[in-house]
This record gives sequence, C-alpha cells and structure tokens, in this order.
Amino acid sequence: MLGLVSVWKMRMSLWAGVAVASIILGLGGVDAELSVDYYGLTCPQVENIVRGEISRKQAANPATAAGLLRIFFHDCFVDGCDASVLITSTAQHKAERDADINLSLSGDGFDAVTRAKTAVEAKCPGIVSCADIMAIATRDLLTLVGGPYYDVKKGRKDSLVSDAWRVDGNIPLTTMSVDELNTLFATRGFNQTEMTALSGAHSVGFSHCKEFMARIYNDNPTEQTIDSEYAQGLQKVCPKQNTDPNMAAFNDVLSPNKFDNVFYQSLSKQLGLLASDQILYTDPRTRGVVNYYASSEGAFFDAFAAAMDKLGSLNVKTGFEGEIRRRCEAFN
Ligand code: HEM
Repeated sequence: MLGLVSVWKMRMSLWAGVAVASIILGLGGVDAELSVDYYGLTCPQVENIVRGEISRKQAANPATAAGLLRIFFHDCFVDGCDASVLITSTAQHKAERDADINLSLSGDGFDAVTRAKTAVEAKCPGIVSCADIMAIATRDLLTLVGGPYYDVKKGRKDSLVSDAWRVDGNIPLTTMSVDELNTLFATRGFNQTEMTALSGAHSVGFSHCKEFMARIYNDNPTEQTIDSEYAQGLQKVCPKQNTDPNMAAFNDVLSPNKFDNVFYQSLSKQLGLLASDQILYTDPRTRGVVNYYASSEGAFFDAFAAAMDKLGSLNVKTGFEGEIRRRCEAFN
C-alpha cells in the first residue's frame, strides 16, 4: 500500500497529491485549496462525463445554460459554493431553494446537475461533490452558448445545511443602486469592475414581468432611461392589468441566446431590461467599464472568466467540512 502511494505521489502534482492522500489516509482538512487536478486519480473522467450529460440537456432545452448560471450564482452568494441551493425542502424544513427569490430558478438548470451527478456516480461512486459538478456544468454550459472557457478548480464539499432564511439580503435586487450593488459584491471580495463584468451574465436568459414592471411603466420622464419603443413592446408582453406571472422577456433583447458583449452595447442604447443593468450605464462610475466591454468582447470574456473562477471559490468547504452527497437533492 505504501509503495503504491509513493508511486502515485511521484506522478501527481502537489495539490492532487494532498487531495488523494487525504482520501486514502482520511486526512480531510489538510487540503484547504481547490485544484484543477483534484480528481486526477480518483475520477479522471469526471469532466468528460459532465460535459456529455449537459451537452445533451442543453441541446434538448436551450434555456438550461442561463438557468444554471443563475443557480450557481445564487448558490455561491449564500454561504459559498456548496450546493446548498440544490437541497429539496421537506414538510418540516424550508430549504434555500424555496426562498422567495429562488422560486424563479430554472427547473432545467437543476435537472442538468441531477443528470450529471447520476452519470458521475455510475462511474465514480461517492467521489465527486455536487458543488464541483455544478461548477463544471456551469462552465461547460457557458461555453456551449458562446461564452469563455476557464479551468474549473475542484475539491469543494457539499453543505450540511440549506435554510431558506439564509438567502434574504444575500442576493442582489433589481432596485439596488450602484452603491448598494457595490456593497453587496464587496462583502464577497468583488470590486466594482468585477461586479460590472458578472452582470454580463444577463447576456443570456430572461426575466419575468414583475422584475421590470416599474421600469417599463415609469411615468417620470426625468428618470426615463429606457428606449420608448422597447418599453412599449414590453408593455404588450406585460400589461399593467392581469399580468401573466409566467410571461418573461429576454435579458438582452439584441442577442438573447448567445453569450457575448452585445449586452453592454444594448445598455448604451437604453435597451437594458433590468433596472440594475441599465444603471451600470447611467451611473458615471460604471459607464466607462460598460463602454469598454461593449467595445471589446475579449476584455469582457477575460474579466468574466476570472470573475467566475473567483465566484466559484467563494467560501468553499474543503477537507473534513461538509460531505460528498450521494444525491444532490438531499443530505446523506
Ligand atoms: C448584479 C446584480 C444582479 C441582479 C439584481 C440580478 C437579478 C436578476 C433577476 C431579477 C433575474 C430574473 C429572474 C426571473 O424573473 O426569472 C435574473 C436572471 C438571471 N441572472 Fe441575475 N442578477 C444579478 C447578477 C447576476 C449574476 C452575477 C449572475 C451570474 C454570474 C446572474 C445570472 C443570471 C442569469 C443567467 C439569469 C437568467 C436566468 C434564466 O434565464 O433562467 N445574475 N437576475
């Protein structure tokens, strides 16, 4: 056994070595860092398995990519990237997923993780956390809709708690000012430029009427920062009376399904859907970054990839903390 361990050790990078040693010797807690090669010896095919499953899912349901991107963000901003958002509520316990703001999270996004986890468990039972699978799947889906590739570091453990009451105040609202957005993101270590880059996630996906009603029916012309034709079109989708709660509009009207920098170009044309997006152009502090990303997709992609890597590292549980869930929807 010792011989085997030393042969292995020669072949692996330092961090993978610590990770594998942790598993073999039960030394969880030693590895407080995430690493790209974390499953290099224990489940080397994990990324291929996840990519295969989520590619099929995205082909069948193209809304999956945006759906999971938002789920991942909501997971990471509430007590870190620990898959706590995946837990299903019980009669006695209201889980994070059922907090009001999370009720609009995408069923397809959750389903993508369940499928990937099932496929991974079949090949590597009990090895790969749901939090890691979600991080890999989110990156893969992003690339499938045209977004940037980045290496996903792994080694996260899954949470042992998931409470709806922990969500409030941790997820940004569309009514927030740039100061409020800055404050919320700063508590997670993101500066204003990174916050502006992460908002570019709204290059894909959609929002329900209630999220932008105030913006499209704003009667005060001095506060009007929305293109009037665009507002009229949205008013047809979301009438003031008897609004259908299921109706939604694309976050980026000019390029709704492709992850690109058109989102920022739309903001300069007053075509932002959410007030919290449009305000990034209105406010002089963020307008420069919006213009920069609007002019350079490469700069936006670099900033977004770096910010996603940082998002995925937020308050992760490693080593003895947390567990590897057998099913992502329930604690072991
Ligand atoms: C900056 C502050 C942010 C605010 C105020 C905000 C708010 C919202 C709201 C209200 C929706 C619509 C939900 C619905 O009606 O179904 C939405 C959708 C979405 N958000 Fe954000 N968000 C923010 C930042 C982010 C970040 C940082 C990400 C990811 C990195 C993200 C990813 C998404 C995605 C992809 C969608 C579309 C979801 C879908 O189509 O299923 N958002 N956001």
